[in-house]
Amino acid sequence: MLKAFRGSFLDFVNDPFYTSEAESVRYFSDGLLVVEQGRLKALGDYDKLKPQYAGVPVEDYSGKLITPGFIDLHIHFPQTEMIAAYGEQLLEWLDTYTFPTESKFKDRAYAQQVASLFLDELLRNGTTTAVVLAAVYPESADAFFEEADRRRLRMVAGKVMMDRNAPDFLLDTAVSSYQDSKTLIEKWHGHNRLLYAVTPRFAPTSTPEQLQLAAKLLQEYPGTYLHTHLSENVAEVAWVKELFPDCQGYLDVYDQVGLVGERSLFAHCIQLTEAEFERLAAAKATIAFCPTSNLFLGSGLFKLEKAKSVDCPIRLGLATDVGAGTSFSMLQTANEAYKVAQLRQQKLSPFQALFLATLGGARALALDDKIGSFAVGREADFVVLDPRSTPVMAFRNAEASPASLIELADRLFSLVIMGDDRAVQATYILGELAHSKGQAGNLPAANSPLKIL
Ligand code: GUN
Ligand code: ZN
Repeated sequence: MLKAFRGSFLDFVNDPFYTSEAESVRYFSDGLLVVEQGRLKALGDYDKLKPQYAGVPVEDYSGKLITPGFIDLHIHFPQTEMIAAYGEQLLEWLDTYTFPTESKFKDRAYAQQVASLFLDELLRNGTTTAVVLAAVYPESADAFFEEADRRRLRMVAGKVMMDRNAPDFLLDTAVSSYQDSKTLIEKWHGHNRLLYAVTPRFAPTSTPEQLQLAAKLLQEYPGTYLHTHLSENVAEVAWVKELFPDCQGYLDVYDQVGLVGERSLFAHCIQLTEAEFERLAAAKATIAFCPTSNLFLGSGLFKLEKAKSVDCPIRLGLATDVGAGTSFSMLQTANEAYKVAQLRQQKLSPFQALFLATLGGARALALDDKIGSFAVGREADFVVLDPRSTPVMAFRNAEASPASLIELADRLFSLVIMGDDRAVQATYILGELAHSKGQAGNLPAANSPLKIL
């Protein structure tokens, strides 16, 4: 029943944007993590804890850094195949590349194949939870949930709702989107580890009627999330103004119909006004910071210091936004987040970056009682990182595991800046191996509970 893992363990007990590192970072240089039936039972110094668990089999990851699994707050699974599409900014990029690609997801078998590859890729990168947009077709969301369930993953997802301003083959109607979402919610929301996000794509592709019906779903199913895009690109914001002349601004389009609340998640938020930041803070809504996507599409530099300010604090996590995002790796995403902060004359410490990718994301989803840390009782989703995964990293990180917080910060920073999927030694889901580096391609590890498709 019990199993244990030895290595260096790092997680957070507080937000390092608002408390000192000493008060927010928890670190065991030589630690032991005990798992019972997929949940965390104990974490402590190896020497102190081991006698209590004598006889329990131990997986030895000495020299590796083990953190809670990464949480990607915003990603499109049907865009896996169109990552790195050249030359356009948001609206043209959607028309030229995205919409034609998403049309392929009407085919359920195809959607299932891509969902499988996509989830394998998340696990290869140490991401154990993601907030995922499917295509407009309910089959695409259904296929995604099925694949996530087979892997016993904690995932939040939803069918995109879009009833105007896109090619006909991609449109639903206000009523059909409501009904299809409802059917998916009934089937998947709260099923094992899966949760549903009501997902109007963004204001320009929804009629006011569709947005109202999205709000109705949230009222009817209180545990569901609202997930959409907000204020990403200058031309998009201008278009929203034309489409909704009676609204005060972009956020107000969602606010007027009751879509802004504690379970609302807004991706990007590059072009927000001061008043909109304040409104999001007051509503306790969440922002997904998507640095690789915001740079790739030329959308702009997210005001991280504004979102994490003391007087107007906003719940914030980190997201890849693949396929506008350029990597599935949350380490690479944190790397770009650091550079965005630099360009704004700000800092993002390695601990702050890892917090956003773990406990910050869990708090943003109000799932911190289940994931995001090594607190006792949490689900045992974690990632084993190798700080020596390339020749240069091995050269840079030559010494044994860091003993002090200062040494740890330096090592973690090297993982954030230089690390990617190569640095992910293994990924565990509910205490079971779900990805192990060196195992061939997409095949599950030999001792994994996963089945080959
Ligand atoms: N806004 C509306 N749809 C999308 C999308 O698919 N990707 C991004 N980055 N922004 C969007
Ligand atoms: Zn997106």
